Amino acid sequence: MHSPKRRVALLTACAVATVGALTTTVTAASAAGTRYEAETSPSTCDGTIDSNHTGYSGSGFCNGTNAVGAAAQFTVTASAAGAATITIGYANGTTATRPTDVLVNGAVAQSAMTFDATANWDTWATKTLSVSLVAGNNTIRLTPTSADGLANIDYLDVEAGGTPPVEQGRQMEKLNRGVTSVHSSSGNMVSWRLLGTDPASVTFNLYR
Ligand code: GCU
Ligand code: CA
Repeated sequence: MHSPKRRVALLTACAVATVGALTTTVTAASAAGTRYEAETSPSTCDGTIDSNHTGYSGSGFCNGTNAVGAAAQFTVTASAAGAATITIGYANGTTATRPTDVLVNGAVAQSAMTFDATANWDTWATKTLSVSLVAGNNTIRLTPTSADGLANIDYLDVEAGGTPPVEQGRQMEKLNRGVTSVHSSSGNMVSWRLLGTDPASVTFNLYR
């Protein structure tokens, strides 16, 4: 009996992003990046403004009281509503992370951001987050959630743009595999989507 010819080929799938970002027009919250120092009013610090560890920006940094809720707060002025990227300069000379809620205008934009250990109190690092700002003044409050309190907080940089937070309108689409076969002189080039939900070990059999 003649059995039909069957060829099995394992092909490389094309990786295609399954998440599309909705385009939003963002007007600059500030011309280039703007730095807000923790020691400069209207910034506030539930602790002391210290300068005993080198390498900080400006004239000092906020040494928050070691307690839950002992916060540092910045007031950021945006010329128009939109997404912004904030970068927080900090040092944490301990060996334990200092989890901190980041609140924008009173709402938690990121809970328990990890201000991880730096080599020592003279070694500064940054944490970055995308936020939504309103036109005019915005408060950005760093509220520690553990009894260790805040890392030492040096400054907050704001730059307009960046990836808007999800609630600002990222669009999700359900895409199928989208198999295509293109004939060429030496054969057929077959491609299809690798989905974001596929396991890393996924394999495909192609029957012809
Ligand atoms: C040390 C350090 C301070 C820091 C504090 C802390 O005392 O000198 O700058 O704020 O530890 O653990 O928070
Ligand atoms: Ca402290």
